[in-house]
Amino acid sequence: MMQLKREREAILNSEYVDNFDFDEVEEFIKGADKELFISHMFKNTSDILVQPRGGFPTYEKVFKLYEEFKTANVDVLPLTIDSNTRLNDYASAKKMLKLSEENDVDMLNGYPLVTHGYRTTRRMITHFKTPISLRHGTPDARLLVEIALASGIFEIEGGPITYLLPYSKNFPLDKAFLYWKYVEKVCAKYSTLNEPINRESFGPLSATLQAPVIVLVIQILEMLLSLEEGVKSFSVSFSQTGSMLQDIVSSNVLKKLSRHYADEFGHSDAVINLVYHQWMGAFPRDKYHSDSLINTSTVIAAMVGADKIITKTRDEAYGIPTKESNAQAVSNVKYTLNMLKGIPKVSDEAEEENLTNEVNEIMQAVFNDPADTLWRKVFNAIKKGHIEIPFSPHIINNNELITVRDDNYNIRIYDKGKLPLSDKSFAYEKSKLNMGKDKALVDEIIKGIGIML
Ligand code: 5AD
Repeated sequence: MMQLKREREAILNSEYVDNFDFDEVEEFIKGADKELFISHMFKNTSDILVQPRGGFPTYEKVFKLYEEFKTANVDVLPLTIDSNTRLNDYASAKKMLKLSEENDVDMLNGYPLVTHGYRTTRRMITHFKTPISLRHGTPDARLLVEIALASGIFEIEGGPITYLLPYSKNFPLDKAFLYWKYVEKVCAKYSTLNEPINRESFGPLSATLQAPVIVLVIQILEMLLSLEEGVKSFSVSFSQTGSMLQDIVSSNVLKKLSRHYADEFGHSDAVINLVYHQWMGAFPRDKYHSDSLINTSTVIAAMVGADKIITKTRDEAYGIPTKESNAQAVSNVKYTLNMLKGIPKVSDEAEEENLTNEVNEIMQAVFNDPADTLWRKVFNAIKKGHIEIPFSPHIINNNELITVRDDNYNIRIYDKGKLPLSDKSFAYEKSKLNMGKDKALVDEIIKGIGIML
């Protein structure tokens, strides 16, 4: 505890932070409105919470964005952070914020939270009295998360694997584990003061032909690393795969196994929720097709019994959406969800059995690594190629795993690389593929990536 205190003081004693008042921040969190905690909301509703993404450089534009979302009856507000802040380049964020304010143009792709500071941002957050989710992509999020929590943002997305391998080329993975350990510890500490802080992992990964087994293993491992530090509210997530069957199978197995492993590691008191991301791959430029894709994914979110859905807009192919289009997307998703109450559960025994086996096989290989701590076992598993993410830009990623779609658009493993899958599991994957000699692998991969275009 003493060591954490010293590390926090060092992190917050930054030229970009205006006098961080530890005691005042604790008092604020202790007395914060329950409505700011998504963990509280999860407890008190059976509806699927709807959350968009969004962030602009200036305070005023985020304020107006939130007003627009509120008229669409949003459940959870986002705060998307700009890329400079994500990369800890607070100096550039500051310069670009100034230019954005002076010239009324957006010089940043999100909100530079560290630059604005917690005293300013907290005013906005306590005004809207709606849970806010921090959306970033930061391997070293220590300072960002401190400022977020002090501002009243009580859901923190990310993790050492999911915010590193899809986003970074050479940020050291061992450092990412240690920096995220700090984040977990601070979230755990604040969780004892009021409602729990919710941590959410980022299941979409590179959003490109991700095999369900990879997504599930990484979700469960990031969950365990978080619960191990004392976090009590955790969301596992995944994104639309392009196959409704595979989404249903993934969710059934993820729900079952995340609970199983949490309990096995002694965290029966932790609450686990499921988040579903609307399609995260390449979007069609035809906006009517986008509408159709978004509606379908809303239906799937209801079928898989998600606790929260993260929305896209019909303008995805064109860049950052306007506040109006973003809010319209929220309103449409809420409208569609309203037609989908109480739909029956669907399952597929053979698919679920195979995915369960695959996940357990990789988890077992991770646990069998001789390292003394869980994060080192996971680190080694990634180094050995026991876990890898297709299309990750990171130098540590093994890049041997090859995935393609079967005739029903399910993502299957074509080459398992060094994944420790049993012959039986791999044979199941292969049996679903129809790769005649007239099909070139690279064409199949490209086709598989572009199915929604
Ligand atoms: N505002 C709104 N949406 C954003 N996204 C990223 N940045 C912003 C922003 N500032 C969304 C885009 C992107 C996804 C990962 O997040 O839809 O594809």
